Amino acid sequence: MKERENFGSRFAVIMAMAGSAIGLGNIWRFPYMVGEYGGAAFIIVYILASFLLVLPIFFAETVIGRRSRSNTFGAMQKLAPGTRWKWLGLLTIVSPIIILSYYSVVGGWSVEYLFKALAFDFTGVPADEIHEFFGRFISSAWEPILVHTAFVAMVGGIVLAGVKKGIEKFTKVTMPILFVLIVVIAVYSITLPGAGKGVEYLLKPDFSKMSAGMVAAAMGQAFFSLSLGVGTILTYASYMRKDENILASGVGTAVSDLVFAVLAGFAVMPAVFAAGIAPGAGPGLVFETLPFIFNKMGSAIPWLSAVMAIVFFVTILVAALTSAISMMEVGVAYLTEEKGMKRVGATLIVTLFAWVVGILCSLSFGPLSGVRLLGNSIFDFLDKLCSNWLLPAGGLLFTIFVGWKMSRSDVFDEFTNGGTLRANVRLFKVVWFLLRYVAPVGIVVVFATNLLM
Ligand code: PHE
Repeated sequence: MKERENFGSRFAVIMAMAGSAIGLGNIWRFPYMVGEYGGAAFIIVYILASFLLVLPIFFAETVIGRRSRSNTFGAMQKLAPGTRWKWLGLLTIVSPIIILSYYSVVGGWSVEYLFKALAFDFTGVPADEIHEFFGRFISSAWEPILVHTAFVAMVGGIVLAGVKKGIEKFTKVTMPILFVLIVVIAVYSITLPGAGKGVEYLLKPDFSKMSAGMVAAAMGQAFFSLSLGVGTILTYASYMRKDENILASGVGTAVSDLVFAVLAGFAVMPAVFAAGIAPGAGPGLVFETLPFIFNKMGSAIPWLSAVMAIVFFVTILVAALTSAISMMEVGVAYLTEEKGMKRVGATLIVTLFAWVVGILCSLSFGPLSGVRLLGNSIFDFLDKLCSNWLLPAGGLLFTIFVGWKMSRSDVFDEFTNGGTLRANVRLFKVVWFLLRYVAPVGIVVVFATNLLM
């Protein structure tokens, strides 16, 4: 059998995992969720969910992935042969491909906006036009499909190049640059006239906005943002070398993801207020707000505005790509390892699936907007199905698997590299407690209250 690829260094692992975590979830989804659920209170619940409920699942997935050195299905076969756990393996192959489908539609939007930025399209036109453009663009039939196609093709291309030459190489270079870019944009946004209200919105919690639905949405966002519950982190962990540190990569990824989300909040929300747009404007928030700012700025210094716009949409595009490749890798690892397919064929199948389902999602903003699934458009339905249900459910099952099915000594061995990592040994009890009790009970409680209220 061909030897399995590995990531080349600790830095590469963290960059790949952070690359998966940091994406549209941070720049596009987080700000509009904050806006929909009322600002700082949502952020606090989100942070609590990230560290108490979701980080333990990061450890669960990495333990499973690195111990088994397999795709999610193979991992279940190796660690619990002949049991029903294989269904968890299968679920977590399907769910990332569904996410990839609608995610690529938004990835396509960022391609479109990057083109517009490159053409100086945000400068020198009336501000209303910018606002209207978004609505017209996403509801048209062909243009969004065209850019969606371009996005999916780029993802397929990188995944095809392989774990080391494709994923590792791409994320190692792009992730550090992303951080610099988002800081630049946040600083600029905060200094806009009228931005103070946005800063206040992000920092001053209003707890009267708390509700069961908000807590469920915050938990779903935490899962989505850390790429958990769908086997992506498990799959990346299967490419981790045995001498790497699971605790450090988990905390490193979670902290960078959180910092990035907050930075994105500061990049977007002050601009929302400065532009006089409603924070609860929904999925279009980033795409409607930022161009407005670039437009305003363009009337003063056109070239600077154009540069900022290009920088911003390159940031979104790159962040989206590094996440999308992690979703695709789950299916590709499964098809190559379990079904004996070549990497080319496997990549092609996953790409085609995401492309077709993505087209339906894209059309659900326009010609197919009349198709409702439980009251939602196809796009919203799939997003809610995944974020609020499939991801937490997958995560719940992963923690139960590690906390209750695997032996404590195996988990200890994996988490502490055979007892050699001192800090990990010391913290193991806490992690074990979070894994066995806090995370599963917490997730079930959030599910139940959301269903009952
Ligand atoms: N975490 C990614 C983001 O924030 C999205 C993602 C979800 C990636 C699930 C992989 C798996 O954009």
